[in-house]
Parts: sequence; structure tokens; C-alpha cells
Amino acid sequence: MRLVRQVGKTYFARAEIYEAFTLTDRHRDEFFRDGAALLKGVLKPEVVKKLHEQLLPIPEWDSEKRLNLWMQHDEILDFYLFGPLGDIARQVFQSPQAVTSLLPPTAQLQRDFISTRSHNSTNGWHIDRTECQIGDQPSKFLSTALARLSVPLIAEGRVRSTQVINQSKYAAAMSEAREEYFAGKSMYRREGRFERLFLWDPNINVPVLPGLNLNEDMIMETWMEPGDVVLFNTCLWHRSPPWVGPGLELGLHPTFAPSNHISHDPPMWSDTKASWCLTDELAGKTIGEGNSSCFPYAYPEDKRPKVGSTLTLKRRPIGLPRHLAFSWVSVQARDMLRKLYFLYRG
Ligand SMILES: [Fe+2]
Repeated sequence: MRLVRQVGKTYFARAEIYEAFTLTDRHRDEFFRDGAALLKGVLKPEVVKKLHEQLLPIPEWDSEKRLNLWMQHDEILDFYLFGPLGDIARQVFQSPQAVTSLLPPTAQLQRDFISTRSHNSTNGWHIDRTECQIGDQPSKFLSTALARLSVPLIAEGRVRSTQVINQSKYAAAMSEAREEYFAGKSMYRREGRFERLFLWDPNINVPVLPGLNLNEDMIMETWMEPGDVVLFNTCLWHRSPPWVGPGLELGLHPTFAPSNHISHDPPMWSDTKASWCLTDELAGKTIGEGNSSCFPYAYPEDKRPKVGSTLTLKRRPIGLPRHLAFSWVSVQARDMLRKLYFLYRG
């Protein structure tokens, strides 16, 4: 399937619908200490309303249409390229607390997806595979522990934010492993995944992890109003909050990366359908592989796709069996090697 995106032609490319958002020291402290920060009033409510209108018709069962929306909608691509999220990500990467603080300022779109909550749903506690490339890492490792900027799409009222285990409390619960965790050398803790996908019951109060005692006081959660965004470390245990209803709740969840980000996991984890760039100098590059140059830059402006330009992609309607199998095998193999490394390191 050939996808051709046109840049800068939709409502979401208009500069006047956005305002710049400046991260405060308090936001930085919260994100780097606790792992999440609530950013109030990032978007105007009318922009959220338009996003909601755009995304509501996507059927809940159609997984292809719920992942990498930037490939499928000029509107969503424009929102990421011209809206404030890329600049916020750039500010996060430049924070003095981050390992990326001295890099040239950039923000490159990675993947995005939409979430739908209804009928008592929660997706269960987990750490994100694609964003957490080295393991279970604290917020400062922003090239290998990519943060998410989640936008609940609500027209009015309030919704509960993503629930995240507080990073300081998580670290405090570790005994001898604490130093390793803060050094970014903690192994990827897969053993506690409780998503339905992994055939676990997602309705447990906190993740149950070997050697760690987590309790409900460690859960961070806030109420969010239209236009609010939550910035959080996806390498901390998190889940959608249990649904309280009555309406359907939609959320848009993009991840951005600094320019030094190299994807260590195979492209399947960025795009299960498998996509390739067909645009000029990127022709033939796989989405999500290596340094992912196929993903568009939102910051700085001179790296951003120009208004009126097109991005051409080839996306398969279903993942290639060969591609899926190799991706799975290589992830399993890497997890095993990682385990051995941590076991025998010394
Ligand atoms: Fe997640």
C-alpha cells in the first residue's frame, strides 16, 4: 500500500491555533525525579476538539489504523510537525538533568498510536518495549528511554491520566539493585507484564515483580482537562487507569526522540505492519530501523519537511510473516543475552 502525505495543508499546520509552551523547572523536577509531569493548557480546547473529530471515526478493531497515524492522516502529521509537542520534547532533551542535554536540539517523531477506553477497560501494567531500548531506565536516559507526550482527546470535563509508578519510590523499593537502576543498567523487567495480550489478568492494583515490593501509594495519577498533556517515562511501569465512563475516552500518544536515538529493536516494534520510506534520499529505508532517518523531524525547523512537500511511504496491510518471525527471534535472543550479561558481569 502506497501512502502519500502532503505537508502543511491542513488546519493543524496553522501557526495561529497554537501557543508555544515553556517547560518550567518544576515540570523538569517532576519528570526527572518522579517520572511524570502534568503540563497544563498546552493545547487550546478547540484544537483538541478537532483532533477528536478526526480520530473518532477510526474503528476500535482496526489495529492498522490505530498505529502510526502520522503515516495515514495529513492532519495528524501536521499536528506533530507544527504543533507544540515537538518543541516540548526538544526542551525535555535539553534539560540539564538529561544525558542528552549537550546534544544539538532536535525532536524526531517516532511512533504514535491512539487509545480507546470503554467498558471497564485498562490495558494492564507494563513497560513499553519500543521506547525502552536498553532496559528498565530512569527518566534521564532520554536517548534509550523515550518519554511519551500523551494527549487525552476530551471535549469537556476531566479524565484520569495514565497511571505511572513513581520513579523515586520505585527506586527506593529496590535494595542492592538501586545503584544499577540509577546508572541505567537495570535489566528489562518483562516478568511483570499484565496486559491482556500476554494472557494475564490486567486488573491487578500494582505490578507484581520479583524482589520488589510495590504498593498503591506509589501510583501517580492526576485529573486532566482538555488541552492538558502528560509527559511520562514509558520505562516506568504504567497503565491506562481503569475506565470510569460513561463516554468513550480517546487518547493520542506520540513519542519523540533526540537525534542520537538508534533503534535497537527491530522495526516490528515501531510498526507491526512494516513500512518503508520512498522519499528521495531516504528511499528504501525501513521505518524504525537503525537511526530511523525515515521518521520526520518536528524540530528544528530547517530539518522539518517543507510546507507543500510530500512524504511517500510503502506500508503493508499485514506484517510480513518473515519480518514478524525475525523480529520476534531477535528480541528473544537479545533478551537472553542481556540476561546472561547481567548474570555474569561480575
Ligand atoms: Fe505503554
